[in-house]
Amino acid sequence: KGMIKKGIILAGGLGTRMSPITKAVNKQLLPIYDKPLIFYPLSVLMLAGIRDILIIVNEGQLKQFKKILPESKNLGIKINFAQQQYPGGLPEAFIIGEKFIGKNNVALILGDNFFYSQSLTAKLIDCTKLQSGAKVFLHSVSNPSQYGVVKINKKNKVLKIVEKPKKHLSDLAITGLYFFDNKVVEYSKKLKISKRKEMEIIDVLSKYNKKNKLSAELIGRGAAWLDAGTIEDFYNASSFVSALENRQGLKIACLEEIAYSENFISKEQFSKLIYDYPKNDYRDYLETLLSN
Ligand code: DAU
Repeated sequence: KGMIKKGIILAGGLGTRMSPITKAVNKQLLPIYDKPLIFYPLSVLMLAGIRDILIIVNEGQLKQFKKILPESKNLGIKINFAQQQYPGGLPEAFIIGEKFIGKNNVALILGDNFFYSQSLTAKLIDCTKLQSGAKVFLHSVSNPSQYGVVKINKKNKVLKIVEKPKKHLSDLAITGLYFFDNKVVEYSKKLKISKRKEMEIIDVLSKYNKKNKLSAELIGRGAAWLDAGTIEDFYNASSFVSALENRQGLKIACLEEIAYSENFISKEQFSKLIYDYPKNDYRDYLETLLSN
């Protein structure tokens, strides 16, 4: 009990930093090397054992998302969709998702966040045990002014949180993966709009922190965390995935593989999934898994 079984992917946004590429296609549908960006955060939730998922997209883009993702029941998960009229801030996820969340605790991952690390799965599963409060992951970055940033003490207690600090506070960015108890819905509803004219996730986190209910964990320098907001980010993330996949012969964030290896689906179901793809490298890869 107390296990987090529900997760939200916030995959809207205007992608203004990537225009003209994002004029017709949402950023989360664009490729990071050999698969769409949205596969990566979805794989994180699946690895956390979260199988009831809400994907929030921009109004009018539902069709494209449905088309690019495998049929969720074939992955042994349930994907619900909702639309956001305008990107009014990350906490809107909990207002739009209120019915979906119900009385449960919930995880949120941003649609443009990419995580890769050896011990990630174990850490994720640990987070789903959260009973009360909120939990975030921190990662050191060279450009902290682009992120939500925290200052912590030696015991990882959060002392200060600032969104996109103009003055240097620390190098520790808050990554786009959050675990919350059910109070997040109530807190989000009471938020005031910030100077950036958005509802701010750091205001939600500060609320938890004031009550001593915010815990923060460093993902460590062995892990890769990227948020794909610019062309350069897409390019770097693609090189990273290409280097790893080609060296190891294993794919990162292959949804079908994860569904199979996590036992969400049987071998028989997996074999059927393969033929959803035309004969290509992606399908070849799935076929090798089947014969192993
Ligand atoms: O990536 C981590 C960072 O994400 C955190 O360090 C920051 O504290 C947090 O505010 C957020 O900052 P960004 O500037 O990266 O957020 P951005 O507006 O780019 O939105 C992140 C993703 O969420 C992006 O894929 C678009 C989507 N989004 C965003 C908003 C504000 C929505 O779908 N709806 C929204 O209303």
